Amino acid sequence: MSTNLSGKHIVLGITGGIAAYKSVYLLRLLIKSGAEVQVVMTPNAKEFITPVTLSSLSGKPVISEFFTANTGEWHSHVDLGLWADAMVIAPATASTIGKMANGVADNMLVTTYLSAKAPVFVTPAMDLDMMAHPSTSRNLELLRSYGNHIIDSESGELASHLVGKGRMAEPQSIVDTLDSFFASSHDLAGKRVLVTAGPTREAIDPVRFIGNYSTGKMGYAIANECRRRGAEVTLVSGPVEAVKAVDGVKVIGVESAREMLDACLKVFDNTDIAVMTAAVADYRPAEVASRKIKREENGIDNIALVKNPDIAATLGKMKSDGQYVVGFALETDHEAENAMAKLKRKNLDAIVLNSLAEKGTGFGTDTNRVDFIANDGTVTRFDIKPKIEVARDVVDMIKSMLSR
Ligand code: C5P
Repeated sequence: MSTNLSGKHIVLGITGGIAAYKSVYLLRLLIKSGAEVQVVMTPNAKEFITPVTLSSLSGKPVISEFFTANTGEWHSHVDLGLWADAMVIAPATASTIGKMANGVADNMLVTTYLSAKAPVFVTPAMDLDMMAHPSTSRNLELLRSYGNHIIDSESGELASHLVGKGRMAEPQSIVDTLDSFFASSHDLAGKRVLVTAGPTREAIDPVRFIGNYSTGKMGYAIANECRRRGAEVTLVSGPVEAVKAVDGVKVIGVESAREMLDACLKVFDNTDIAVMTAAVADYRPAEVASRKIKREENGIDNIALVKNPDIAATLGKMKSDGQYVVGFALETDHEAENAMAKLKRKNLDAIVLNSLAEKGTGFGTDTNRVDFIANDGTVTRFDIKPKIEVARDVVDMIKSMLSR
């Protein structure tokens, strides 16, 4: 069968949980989809299913130990990590999730995970109380923050006969997730994308500035997602910490709004899609003092401000047919109307509205809830989810708007 998984190298990590029996079906489906699969089991997983079943289906010896006992042959987790186009850990027990989140590399599966360059999909399966424990949630959040994909567990009857959340996702739905992941992996090939991200800093004097709390997470997630999908990406970023662009994204670091505008203007002619996520300071001091302003001189309490350029509006007004410009809006009241008005005023093709009204959204959080509003007024509403997944939704929307 020809699918997006055809010829893909998948490392299937199996850990010691009851749901391990479902991994046999998962392995069968992956092989039927045309993937080449290398199974890596934790020592505990062998208590649940035998390596012989798995090696027969995959056509490859199962790896579980660092060395083959009788020959002393070393299994290179580094090579395996490089061989993989994706790693899937199914089922992932609370213990393995904890080890992955904290780098406890005491078995072949976790060492392979730590060496993997490919995307990693984690499929948790455990009893409902373990699932609900704060340590499990925290470790899953950590894995998400590393960019791993979590294939959420389902609710239903568990091995304990209790009913609740913790069942491993069905093998077919895991395969579908992987299939659509690979399907999208080149859908932006040939497109040139410009993203702005982070805050700007507007100097008051050599030691002070006007800034804001933006962390850049949303913009970096969008830039990274576009790159993963094959686009040529330029990211114009204000000063940020703790966020990283993936290999291949061209990052231009700037400080002020005017520097951000200049950097954008340099590349905009050669841009197909511009996504403006930066929290640009609306005003800057009219003059930057050349020396630190002294408190006693009363200079600080009366700083004259002037308006900064609106980068999104500038690009929106410049754009020609075939260029697609998306803005972000953060509104606290009359959200949809204000966002739509902003879209019109700045001549954007779409605006992504995120509201501060809900917990877990906006500045500094790892999650966001957005509405994608197109210039024809259609609104697509998304659930609250990690910013990495929000980025995927936003890029999916842009992609589908472009192919209309
Ligand atoms: O007008 P407001 O700041 O709410 O608009 C938000 C949108 O406009 C965001 O996409 C933001 O990146 C962009 N923007 C900009 N330059 C400014 C102000 C906002 O690009 N000076």
